[in-house]
Amino acid sequence: MKIMSGNSNLPLARAIAAYLEIPLTDASVRRFADDEIFVEIHENVRGEDVFIVQPTGFPANDNLMELLICIDALRRASAKRITAVVPYFGYARQDRKPGPRTPISAKLVANLMTEAGADRVLAVDLHAGQIQGFFDIPTDNLYAAPVMAADIQARYGDQDLMVVSPDVGGVVRARALAKRLDNAPLAIVDKRRDRPGESEVMNIIGEVEGRHCVMIDDIVDSGGTLCNAAEALLANGAKSVAAYITHGVLSGGAVARINGSKLTELVISDSIRPTEAAEKSDRIRILTMAPLVGEAIRRIADESSVSSLFD
Ligand code: R5P
Repeated sequence: MKIMSGNSNLPLARAIAAYLEIPLTDASVRRFADDEIFVEIHENVRGEDVFIVQPTGFPANDNLMELLICIDALRRASAKRITAVVPYFGYARQDRKPGPRTPISAKLVANLMTEAGADRVLAVDLHAGQIQGFFDIPTDNLYAAPVMAADIQARYGDQDLMVVSPDVGGVVRARALAKRLDNAPLAIVDKRRDRPGESEVMNIIGEVEGRHCVMIDDIVDSGGTLCNAAEALLANGAKSVAAYITHGVLSGGAVARINGSKLTELVISDSIRPTEAAEKSDRIRILTMAPLVGEAIRRIADESSVSSLFD
């Protein structure tokens, strides 16, 4: 087995390699003067089971292109099997046509990975589980839930907990986490705009008064969803509000928004390499996915069960 990395999240790739007690494959991913990407693998990979670690977060297009070129280089170097390890799958939110004459970019990205030569895909908390069906190659979707649940239990286990989905779309994910927390009660933030042009109203479904709320979601991007939901929960009597979100996209002024929000803390994973601002924020904490992803890689290589990781 070999672990190779692009430039998107080297610290995570190194931590995965350390978990597996193997060195990262010696390769360089460089840029020509005109920004074209050039990949060179400096060791033999012929007949090897190769895992290329490259989440496709910001800059999404560069990181995606890098991944495709790495896969192409591995295929042409006769790797036996190539697994694209994409802890954050960019473009996943474009998984359906929101209107006429719009693309389904998540499907296009799946086609590109397959066409480049990936034999398998390993992702974490895909925005929608159905994205697995966009691939005709085996696709494993890992859940950050066990890592998040263990941390929630350690930090907030002795308090009156309420798991909250910050929008209706995330209920299944939040419910699954609540189940891991000894069936903690579940509340839902329901955003409604009754008429176009009218401001959004937040209805809280569930009794949050006097509870310590933990919001669960897959992505924090601008931070708007979380900050607004936190205000609504506190206005409805919640004692405190924290958030556990797998993918810290945190674009634009998101870190500043979180720092100035009413959230006690935002916990994200390292599926995307955290920015310096996120690392410096005393409101943001980062949990590593390296042991989980590393263990899944070991099991894929050994051809043993991956799903039993979540039993
Ligand atoms: C949406 O379906 C996702 O699960 C997140 O709720 C969303 O991407 C968060 O975006 P933002 O942080 O920009 O509100």
